[in-house]
Amino acid sequence: MVRIADRPSDVLPRGLDGVPVATTSVSDVDGTRGFYHFRGVDPTTFARTGTFEDAWHLLHEGELPTSEQRAVFAARIGSAMRMPPVLRDALPALAALGPPGSQDVLRSAISAAGVALGCRPWTEQDRVTTDDQAIRLAALTPVLAAALYRLARGQGTIDPVPGRTIAENYLAMIHGDAPTAEQTRALETYLILAADHGFCNSTFALRVIASSGADVGGALAGAVASLSGPLHGGAIGRVPSMLAAIGDPARVEPWIRDRLARRERLMGFGHAVYRTLDPRNTVLRGVADEIGGDTVELAKLVEQTGVRLLNEHKSDKRREANIELYAGIALDFAGIPEELFGSTFTVARMAGWTANLMEQIADNRIFRPAARYVGREPDLA
Ligand SMILES: CC(C)(COP(=O)(O)OP(=O)(O)OC[C@H]1O[C@@H](n2cnc3c(N)ncnc32)[C@H](O)[C@@H]1OP(=O)(O)O)[C@@H](O)C(=O)NCCC(=O)NCCS
Repeated sequence: MVRIADRPSDVLPRGLDGVPVATTSVSDVDGTRGFYHFRGVDPTTFARTGTFEDAWHLLHEGELPTSEQRAVFAARIGSAMRMPPVLRDALPALAALGPPGSQDVLRSAISAAGVALGCRPWTEQDRVTTDDQAIRLAALTPVLAAALYRLARGQGTIDPVPGRTIAENYLAMIHGDAPTAEQTRALETYLILAADHGFCNSTFALRVIASSGADVGGALAGAVASLSGPLHGGAIGRVPSMLAAIGDPARVEPWIRDRLARRERLMGFGHAVYRTLDPRNTVLRGVADEIGGDTVELAKLVEQTGVRLLNEHKSDKRREANIELYAGIALDFAGIPEELFGSTFTVARMAGWTANLMEQIADNRIFRPAARYVGREPDLA
């Protein structure tokens, strides 16, 4: 058998592009058909009507909840949102580390929360405890994101209210006021669509860390670090500044041409797997269309022009706009401050990560790939 590491360097798939490295039954992306699903269910079918909790239940428990299961899961999440006092005490110091809304501060808080919850190597505790810690850390993420944001702005924190959905609570914990139904709807749609997406960089990172037996808090914090990168989830916070920099419809084409000529990436375009339109983009464009306004019209022009020029610029395979192009518009309408976009993506993706973590530990083998050494050979004489 020829191992990948033994193949000639010209056929080594850089970045493991398309190489299967595990089996999963959590979610999958079909880049050719432009389709993705959670456990066999297309999330775009319920993204405009369902709740984030439903998507999380589907990912974590394997099926959409019945009304009875929905109530049990909501109660479980509700109590998991309660902050341990030692963590609450640590938040002001954490918030002071960075600007309001920082995803990096949130990442540090998730790591700290893991310690506060007593997370230990999962190999040295039972499965129920590990599952409980994963759910608690994911449920605490919107609480932490909102609290850190407010503390960094010199405001007091707001506790979640039992009986509200995560989306309702998240918006209320950021602003103090209960959100409108339309705002909650826009946020629910985004959270559902972004809850998981196959074996993306952050999910792989999570599973690599978990595969060594490391604790849940460490694995989730590592996944947040991966997600924050501009080539992955970090693009969400960069699209609004791109639209603002373009500013005027007349500047769209020259701006994009200039960017491509300088070999810079267009944020919100391209995807490692999709060669057709990203289905999440289609749903969020629909949300943006209902919101309407100059920014939406500008984004649509940027999409048309960006796709045309990107494919002229590089014609080896088809590239389209991705989820991030309209995500900021939906989140802005929901009332999420721009600084919190990356943290809000983290809130959503925690759902998929908890499911992936539990799948990894159910049949674990430590990831230990190989690299072909091409450096200076040792002198063995
Ligand atoms: C998502 C992304 C990282 C995928 O990268 P990838 O798997 O290497 O993509 P592909 O194999 O399709 O193509 C890579 C090539 O196409 C070009 N390309 C791909 N996406 C591009 C973009 N958004 N802007 C400009 N050029 C792009 C690059 O020039 C790259 O060529 P290079 O290696 O010579 O620099 C990439 O499309 C990107 O950086 N997009 C912008 C960031 C973004 O929106 N991320 C969110 C993803 S949901």
